[in-house]
Amino acid sequence: MIVVVALHLIQVFLYGAYKKPREATWMVGVGLLLLTLGYGSSEAASPFPIVSRACASVFRLLSGPYNKGFMPAELACIEERCRARFPITDIIYNCPKCGGLLDAVYPDPPPAADLRALWLGRRTSNAPLDQSGVWRFREFLPFLPNYDSVVTLREGNTPLLDAPQAARYGGLDRLTFKHQGFNPTGSFKDNGMTCGIAQALRLGKRRVACVSTGNTSASMAAYASAAGLQPIIFIPHGNIAYGKLAQALEYGARTLQVEANFDQILALVRRLAERLDIYLLNSMNPFRIEGQKTIMVEMMEQRDWRPPDWVVLPGGNLGNTSAFGKALREMKAAGLIGRLPRLAVVQAEGSAPFYDLWRAADRSRLNPVVHPQTLATAIKIGDPVSWPKALREVEASHGVVEKVTEQEIADAKAIVGRCGIGCEPASAATLAGIRKLTAAGSIPADADVVAVLTGNVLKDPDYIYRYHTGDLKSPSGARIEPNYGNRPIMVPNDEAQIAAILDSQLGNTPKQG
Ligand code: F0G
Repeated sequence: MIVVVALHLIQVFLYGAYKKPREATWMVGVGLLLLTLGYGSSEAASPFPIVSRACASVFRLLSGPYNKGFMPAELACIEERCRARFPITDIIYNCPKCGGLLDAVYPDPPPAADLRALWLGRRTSNAPLDQSGVWRFREFLPFLPNYDSVVTLREGNTPLLDAPQAARYGGLDRLTFKHQGFNPTGSFKDNGMTCGIAQALRLGKRRVACVSTGNTSASMAAYASAAGLQPIIFIPHGNIAYGKLAQALEYGARTLQVEANFDQILALVRRLAERLDIYLLNSMNPFRIEGQKTIMVEMMEQRDWRPPDWVVLPGGNLGNTSAFGKALREMKAAGLIGRLPRLAVVQAEGSAPFYDLWRAADRSRLNPVVHPQTLATAIKIGDPVSWPKALREVEASHGVVEKVTEQEIADAKAIVGRCGIGCEPASAATLAGIRKLTAAGSIPADADVVAVLTGNVLKDPDYIYRYHTGDLKSPSGARIEPNYGNRPIMVPNDEAQIAAILDSQLGNTPKQG
C-alpha cells in the first residue's frame, strides 16, 4: 500500500505540476502527511485514527480531479441518503453514521479483455493463489495491500452441471446447476470465508466468530484453523444438520450451542464481538460478500461470458443474493458481460420474510418472521440482515422472489439426487422455485437458467434417510410424502430369495454372456 500511495504521489505530482502546480504541491504535502500518519498502511489502524481519517477525507476531496482510477479500496455505506466512506481497514460491519450496510468499493478494474486473458492464463498455474477459484479473480476484489494474509483451501472451482431430468421436472428445456457443494467444506461459504479470514489476519485479529445455521460455521472453523486463528461459533441448539456440526467440531472450533434462534443469537453476538475483541464473519462482513462474488465471475467465465437469462438461488440471510447482484453489476460495468441476468430468490414458506417484503406495497421495511420454520435449516432465518442489499440487487436485475413448501423442497431435492448430483435441502429450493415459476409463466420453458446448489448432499443425511423411508415430517407435524422415495429393502441372507426379490423389483433382466 505504501508503494501505491508513493506511486500515487508521483502521479499527482507529475500530472498536477503540468496542469495546476499549486494544487499539486498541496496534495503532495497532504499525501506525505498521510503516509506519516499511517493512513493506507496495510496493517490495522494508524496510531492516530481520527487525524488519519480526517486526512484521508481531505486528501480524497483535494485529489479527486486528478485521481480518477487511482482511489484506494474503501468501505461505502449503501444508503443513498448517506453514502459515507471509510478506510478499508476500519473494523465496522454497519455504517457508524446511519447504521446502513457497507459495500467494499474500488477504482475501475483493468480492461475486460486483459482480465479475461489474465484469469484464463492462471488456470495452468501451480501457484496456490491462482489455483483458488476465488483469488484467481483477485483483480475483482482488490481490498488487500498484498496477498501475504491469504489462506486458500482451493475454494471455488465448482462445476456447471447439465441436469436434463431436473430440467424436465422444473418445466424447462434445459437447466444447469452451478454446484457450490464441491467446495472444500461443501458449501458456497468457502468462497467468502477465504476473504473474510484474509481480512482478519490483515487486521491483526486473533479470534473470529460467527452465528450460523451450520455451513458458515463449518467453513469458518476450517479456514480459521488453517490460518492459525481461534474460531468461535454460535449455533441454534438442535437446529443444525449433523454434517455441519460435525465439521465445526472436527476443524477445532470452540462451539457454543445457544437456546435461541439464529436471529436472536446474531443480535447477542454482535454485542459480544466488541467486548471480546472478536472479528465477526457473518455475511454482513463486506469481505465475505466480496469472495462470494466470484461464484458469478467463475460461472460467467465457464459460459464464455454469455450471461444466462436467470440465476436462481435460495435466500436465507441474503448475503449470497447481495454478492451475486454486486458481481453481476460490476461485471457489466467492467464490460465483461453485456447484460444482467435476472435473479430469482427462493425462500422456504415458513421462513419467507423477503418474499413478503417483495410482495408488499411498501418495500422500505422488512417485517421479520419471529418464529421461522423449515426443515431446510440452512435458510431458517426470520430477520435476514442483508435484505436492503438483496432488495437493491433483485430490483436492479428485474428479478423475482418466490417461496416454496416443505413438500416441494423435499421432492425437488430427490430429483436433484436422481440426476446423480445431489444437494442439501436449502439448495433444492431452487428447483422447487423454478417449477413454480415456469408453471406461473414467469420463466419460459426455453429460458437459459442457472440454478446455484449451495450445499453438498452429505450435509444433512438424516433428512435424506427420513424422506426416502417416509419418516420426514414438516415443522407443523404434517407427513412429507416420499413421492420420489427410495426405501432400502430388508432381505434375508439367501441367494434365491434375493434373486426373486430383485426380479420382482427390477424386472427380469436377461443374462449376459
Ligand atoms: N444455502 C445454504 C446451504 C446455506 O447454508 C445458506 C446460508 C443459504 C443457502 C442462504 O444463503 O444466507 O446468503 O441467503 N447459510 C448461513 C449459515 C446462514 O449460517 O450457514 P444466504
